Amino acid sequence: MANSSYNMKRTKIVDIFDPALLDTSVCVKGWVRTRRGNKHVQFVALNDGSTIKNIQIVFDLSKFDEEQLKAITTGSSLCIIGQLVPSMGKGQTCEIQAETFELYGSADPTTYPLQKKGHTLEFLREIAHLRPRTNTFGAILRVRSVLAYAIHKFFNDKGFFYLNTPLITASDCEGAGAMFQVTTLPMNDLPKTEEGDIDYSKDFFGKAAALTVSGQLEGELGATALGAIYTFGPTFRAENSNTPRHLSEFWMIEPEMAFYEIEENMDLAEEFIKYCISFALDKAKDDIEFLAQMYDKDLVERLKFVIHNDFVRLTYTEGVKILEQSGRKFEFPVYWGVDLASEHERYLVEEHFKKPVILTDYPKEIKAFYMKQNEDGKTVRAMDVLFPQIGEIIGGSEREADYDKLLKRIEELGIPMKDMWWYLDTRRYGSVPHSGFGLGFERLVLFVTGMTNIRDVIPFPRTPGNAEF
Ligand code: 4AD
Ligand code: MG
Repeated sequence: MANSSYNMKRTKIVDIFDPALLDTSVCVKGWVRTRRGNKHVQFVALNDGSTIKNIQIVFDLSKFDEEQLKAITTGSSLCIIGQLVPSMGKGQTCEIQAETFELYGSADPTTYPLQKKGHTLEFLREIAHLRPRTNTFGAILRVRSVLAYAIHKFFNDKGFFYLNTPLITASDCEGAGAMFQVTTLPMNDLPKTEEGDIDYSKDFFGKAAALTVSGQLEGELGATALGAIYTFGPTFRAENSNTPRHLSEFWMIEPEMAFYEIEENMDLAEEFIKYCISFALDKAKDDIEFLAQMYDKDLVERLKFVIHNDFVRLTYTEGVKILEQSGRKFEFPVYWGVDLASEHERYLVEEHFKKPVILTDYPKEIKAFYMKQNEDGKTVRAMDVLFPQIGEIIGGSEREADYDKLLKRIEELGIPMKDMWWYLDTRRYGSVPHSGFGLGFERLVLFVTGMTNIRDVIPFPRTPGNAEF
């Protein structure tokens, strides 16, 4: 048994199906999915995470002791050396005739939780530390990684610069107040000012700090210097939203472009999202097809549909009119001025237009302070990209470039000026028209994988009441 594999190059399973390797000696390493067979021959399905595909290992019991093979249970890890040969079996082109094997680690069948196939996604959420070893999560995590690569490639090919914005910040970009505080003050003995407020001057940063909800404001500093930047990092929101589309920690991609007006911003968003989906369909084909087959028969069709059709563009005001005239009884009533709920967004996308929609020119009251104000005094140059199954996948806008208008809006909303002086400098010195948007990475991964719960497309989900693992 324990023949050292040290001198033999390991072949990843993703590469083993190369016909040039047939009838050569190969070394593979991975985790056992199943073992079955009889007194004469045993078959092990081995997976190493490099692909959705398993390689079949054949153990001829005239060469191996049946007792020895008993340690090869589901979940155990192995190194196998053997001859790669054409397979007679259904569903595979080749298999490995084992010559030696080394058991790296056993997995006790009485306790290893992933014994059988077909666990529910809910159950797998309870064992999020092991679920990457399932076919489903292997596929999702590979698609996620491919999409991350697509994002960097898209922006790099366009000459955008990758800007790293801070995770710890003192400013609330979206103004929703849903921030996680970062402090080293003793919780049971908070220093107080004479007025009785918490004395943040004694805190680590000398003021109140929190985890960022968006890198946009700092992104604007980059865009008004480098021309076009993008961020790609984690963001944190302490809103108590227990929905299949909200996380407390999620990843966001935020491009920000000097000299872009809202139309160019929409063009970029549409091109970007189509590029990412095409890239995934091309580079993660096996995984997407597996997920389609297991969970969502229409997945590939839907992805292709999005790539090949123009997104519908209309104003919020036009959208509300369609909703009002739809005759549909919504759970939340719809009227001009309301922040659209997911049911409204999905009605427009899935039932009315049957296409992705970009809604623009929202009432200023329901959007953030930094958006460019329209002539009508009521709306701002916002744009939300709405997707089937998902609802809002992108939120963005042209930015208010006029110093006086921006300052007035900041004052109207009572945003403390002491927090904003550095941001206002972008408008004080060499202000330019500029725009940007934020794509919720997990919402994109949801769409591309056909999953329906956002907790299933991030390796370690954080939601209200849940920060295990
Ligand atoms: O619409 P949002 O809040 O926009 C911003 O943060 C802007 N600063 C973006 C910009 O213009 N640079 O968030 C952007 C996107 C949403 O469209 C959604 O896809 C995602 O981020 N998102 C969430 N994803 C998961 N969980 C949450 N709690 C999310 N909140 C927003
Ligand atoms: Mg939004």
